[in-house]
Amino acid sequence: MLELPEDVLQALLAAAQEARSRSYSPYSCFAVGAAVLDEHGAIHAGCNVENAAYPQGWCAEASALGAMIMAGGVRAMAVLVTGPGPETITPCGGCRQKLREFGNGDMLVIAADSNGVKQSWTLEQLLPHSFGPEHLV
Ligand code: THU
Repeated sequence: MLELPEDVLQALLAAAQEARSRSYSPYSCFAVGAAVLDEHGAIHAGCNVENAAYPQGWCAEASALGAMIMAGGVRAMAVLVTGPGPETITPCGGCRQKLREFGNGDMLVIAADSNGVKQSWTLEQLLPHSFGPEHLV
C-alpha cells in the first residue's frame, strides 16, 4: 500500500496531528490537519482555518501547500490528512485539484486518524483524468 519509509510516514503523521491541534474550526468543530512531503524531503503542515463568512474558510491541505510554497518547495510527493476520526477523511474535491497543481497522479494521499495511518491512494485514483499545469503549455 505505502511506498514511504516508515520514519517519513511517522514524521508526516506527527506533523499533521500537531497541525490539527491548531485548527481554527469554531463553526464545523471539525478539526483537520495535513502534512505535505516536498521534493527536498521537507515536511510542511497546515490546519483548516474557518471564517464567520463560511465560504471564506479554507482546508488544511491549502494551508499545508501554502507553507510548502513559502518554504521553497514546489513538488508535493505525498500528503497525509487527519481528521477527528473514526471516519477516514480524504481531501475534498477542491483540495484534490490544489494538490494536482504541485504533483502528478502518482502523489501519495494518506488518510490517518488518532490511531495512525488508515489507508492510502494515489492522487490519480482520487482525481482521475485530471487537468494540470501541463495542459496550459
Ligand atoms: N476540511 C479540510 O480541512 N480538509 C478536507 O480534506 C476536508 C474538509 C475542513 C473544511 C472545514 O473547515 C471542515 O473541514 C468541515 O468541512
